[in-house]
Amino acid sequence: MVWRKEQASDRFFRLAKAEGYRARSAYKLLEIVEKYNLVRPGQVVLDLGAAPGSWSQVALRRVGAEGKVVAVDLQPIAGLPGLNTLVGDLREEQVIAEAKQALGRPADVVLSDVAPQATGIAITDQARAIELAHAALDVASKTLRPGGAFIVKVFRGEDFDRFLAAVRRHFRKANVVIPEATRAESREVYVVANGFGYPVASKPKSKR
Ligand SMILES: C[S@@+](CC[C@H](N)C(=O)[O-])C[C@H]1O[C@@H](n2cnc3c(N)ncnc32)[C@H](O)[C@@H]1O
Repeated sequence: MVWRKEQASDRFFRLAKAEGYRARSAYKLLEIVEKYNLVRPGQVVLDLGAAPGSWSQVALRRVGAEGKVVAVDLQPIAGLPGLNTLVGDLREEQVIAEAKQALGRPADVVLSDVAPQATGIAITDQARAIELAHAALDVASKTLRPGGAFIVKVFRGEDFDRFLAAVRRHFRKANVVIPEATRAESREVYVVANGFGYPVASKPKSKR
């Protein structure tokens, strides 16, 4: 009951209902793609951990009829016309191969809002979340076109810096963003990476 009250008074929850988005998290993605001018008309987008589908809704609206959105989740996603959905685990090669086939060409943008089922044990949840973020990075590196972008949810904590360093080995630039719709008590952040395949070369240490 308290939870329902909190939800009802939440501005983004009310906005999501009014604008037909399946989850308030749509506004996190909207803020990011507007700020960085990502997910544009005609583009091909892969959405990982996509159920119930609010990020896919944002992507579908932005790419338009000439674009394509492929969604992957352990759960099925129904009732979003134009969305290509795959039910499966993003860590499986077969699922990645099917996603590539559904995309038809290398993706312009890979999105990942993947989150593990929470156990309530902080250390376990953090370890699973970071493992899934690395798995999403692996999928992005196998499906993006050169110069493509990757937006991924991560939880701040142990191993976050190592994950960010791994992203920077693949992309020219990676920013850490906390969208307005993220709840104050949340540890979630979004890594927004651009320029796939063109990492900034690390400078060799000078010999003296
Ligand atoms: C926070 S929800 C995503 C919300 C979605 N972006 C939206 O806006 O509607 C996280 C999703 O990650 C999915 N997930 C967790 N582990 C996964 C895995 N190994 N492979 C694919 N999907 C996974 C869950 O099933 C869940 O639907």
